[in-house]
Amino acid sequence: MSFERHNIQRMQGYASGEQPEDAQTIKLNTNENPYPPTPAVQGVMQDFDPVALRRYPPPTADAFRDVAAALHGVARNNIIATRGGDELLRLIITTFVDPGRLIAMTAPTYSLYPVLAQIQDCPILQIPLQPNWALAADFCDQVNNAGAALTLIVNPHAPTGHLLDAATIASMAAQLNSVLLIDEAYVDFVDPSIRHDCLDLVNQFDNLLFLRTLSKGYSLAGLRFGYGIGAASLITPMLEKTRDSYNLDLLSQKIATAALQDQEHARLTWQQVRAERQRLSEALADIGLTSSPSHANFLLVQVPAAIGISAAALYQGLKQRHILVRHFDQPRLDDKLRITIGTSDENAQLLKNLKELLPAA
Ligand SMILES: Cc1ncc(COP(=O)(O)O)c(C=O)c1O
Repeated sequence: MSFERHNIQRMQGYASGEQPEDAQTIKLNTNENPYPPTPAVQGVMQDFDPVALRRYPPPTADAFRDVAAALHGVARNNIIATRGGDELLRLIITTFVDPGRLIAMTAPTYSLYPVLAQIQDCPILQIPLQPNWALAADFCDQVNNAGAALTLIVNPHAPTGHLLDAATIASMAAQLNSVLLIDEAYVDFVDPSIRHDCLDLVNQFDNLLFLRTLSKGYSLAGLRFGYGIGAASLITPMLEKTRDSYNLDLLSQKIATAALQDQEHARLTWQQVRAERQRLSEALADIGLTSSPSHANFLLVQVPAAIGISAAALYQGLKQRHILVRHFDQPRLDDKLRITIGTSDENAQLLKNLKELLPAA
């Protein structure tokens, strides 16, 4: 006899990317930052007094929220700190979406979204992206007509790297009747010269939330720290009602605050990732593996049929050589590999092994 709710019984859990424990594997499969976090993290850990753990941590991580608010030019009550971006997604769904209500998203999208919808027993509406990965022209009409309570958009998009500009986000927030979550997990890797910045929209729309994480841009995936930015009317119910009491331990709050304060270090890693992204996409194109323009820290690389080996076989071949990339066995992605940008050494190893695996022309 099973005690699981029916929707839980029916669903599959989230399939995390492989996390090998050996040091020799080149890990280009889960979009981690290849460079170390700011040395300030080490400083926080060295200075940390374990006796401080005797007490509960600050419940709403206000020191962190103040640093995030100053960084983004918003107020403290526009920020909620969460255990990774993933906790924010769960909070948004439990706070704003009744079980049975529709959740809208694109296809493809971040594969955790459908899983979280199923946990809440919500049907999903997946609207296919256009061939160039842009949103369907009638995306908002479709979402409104279907009566969705929440729309989840990754920007820059995963797994394609496609970027929607601020004007598009503003027009979506204006048109949609639902809450709109713009998941900016990868926004730090957008080239600053294009001046992409959507955060002033927070003060214009009461249905708009942004997700940020320290996992990618701040090299702290192991810490599990993210945050949400939005109108106080959206942030407050999550902060005061649906958040777990003491959702963030004291040490992570201190580390995350120090990391966010060292913008100079983080920006240097973003710049290095962008330079490597450019180099890698050109070198891959030289061997017949093209990718669409990416504003994130990964490339979605097409493996053309004419090249004589499938994306799945290339993934396996690389894995045998201790290089992990991501292959999604789903429509429109099964002929592609999603490759995280590594250090220049890692990228060179990847290229060398790909060249060996590709059949001679
Ligand atoms: C699109 C997207 N959103 C959110 C997250 C959540 O990241 P985290 O929970 O590590 O902050 C990820 C992680 O891979 C992601 O790819």
